[in-house]
Amino acid sequence: MSLLDDIKAMAAQARKELQGVVSPEALEGWRIKYLGTRGAVKAAMGRLKEVPAADKKVVGKALNEFKDGLQSAFQQLAATLGTGARAAKGPKVDVTLPGRRPKAGHLHVITQTINEMCDIFGRMGFTVAYGPEVEDERHNFVALNIPPSHPARDPLDNFYIDEATMLRSQTSTIQIRVMESQKPPVRIVAPGRVYRPDTVDASHSFMFHHMEGLYVDEGVSMADLKTCVDQFFKAYFGPDASSRFRPSFFPFTEPSAEIDLSCRICHAKGCPACKYTGWMELGGAGMVDPSVLEAVGYDSEKYTGFAFGFGIDRGVMQKYGIPDIRLLFENDVRFLHQF
Ligand code: DAH
Repeated sequence: MSLLDDIKAMAAQARKELQGVVSPEALEGWRIKYLGTRGAVKAAMGRLKEVPAADKKVVGKALNEFKDGLQSAFQQLAATLGTGARAAKGPKVDVTLPGRRPKAGHLHVITQTINEMCDIFGRMGFTVAYGPEVEDERHNFVALNIPPSHPARDPLDNFYIDEATMLRSQTSTIQIRVMESQKPPVRIVAPGRVYRPDTVDASHSFMFHHMEGLYVDEGVSMADLKTCVDQFFKAYFGPDASSRFRPSFFPFTEPSAEIDLSCRICHAKGCPACKYTGWMELGGAGMVDPSVLEAVGYDSEKYTGFAFGFGIDRGVMQKYGIPDIRLLFENDVRFLHQF
């Protein structure tokens, strides 16, 4: 038999055998048999010198095709099976490697914060109340003692839906809803979104979050309010945080105060964020105006109460040193993953 015939027969045989190969070990055996240093291809190459000079070109070409064909068939199968060399080292899966945590989402930093704040107030005896974001004027203004002439009711400063319906501009609405449906004593906090058509910049958004607080019982005083706010600041922001009350005015509280938090960014030393005052305004508070209590049917001779409301987003920004409120609402995962 000529070498050319042998090559053809070997090629057919090798391909047939390869079809039966299902393991890396068997593939390695096949490789050694055909492509190894003492394999069939090498042996056939050795026989090229027997071939008459005139046929050398044809036979040499057939030999090369034989070799290349087997090599590419081997590589193809090795890619799916793995090679004997690698398989010989052990199993392909290293079961001792620590697992890879599947990528799961998590709660938004605002939601986490609301939960954390509600927990703190919960430990002080407050329960959590919620109210609708689409409100009527009565709950947003009238029952809170805010007269029609008050600048806060300016249609340009609110998102009105129709004459008497609007997106709530404050969570103080929930004070009214709770007192309408519950007899004193009440002790609630009410987190939620509020809406005002402010021009968006680093510290303003047309939608943000407020946390309202209300405590009505016999003998509740301004001292209770100050203690509650101060304790909350220390629990949420850290033991070195302090609070400051500045006299102010709100139609639904008397007396009223503006609540400041000692700046967490510069630790009250003064920085651009706090305009070098060492304090950040966080919200308002006061003793519930007796006329608000009377309007919901509470006996204002018997009961007194305090109320407060502050910006949750501002709190988050202070706590984590976030310079721009827009970061909280843009939903960039690179930002959100940090919390
Ligand atoms: N609702 C007020 C605001 O949006 C904040 C506020 C002030 C809430 C005094 C209160 C309060 O409950 O007593 O600015």
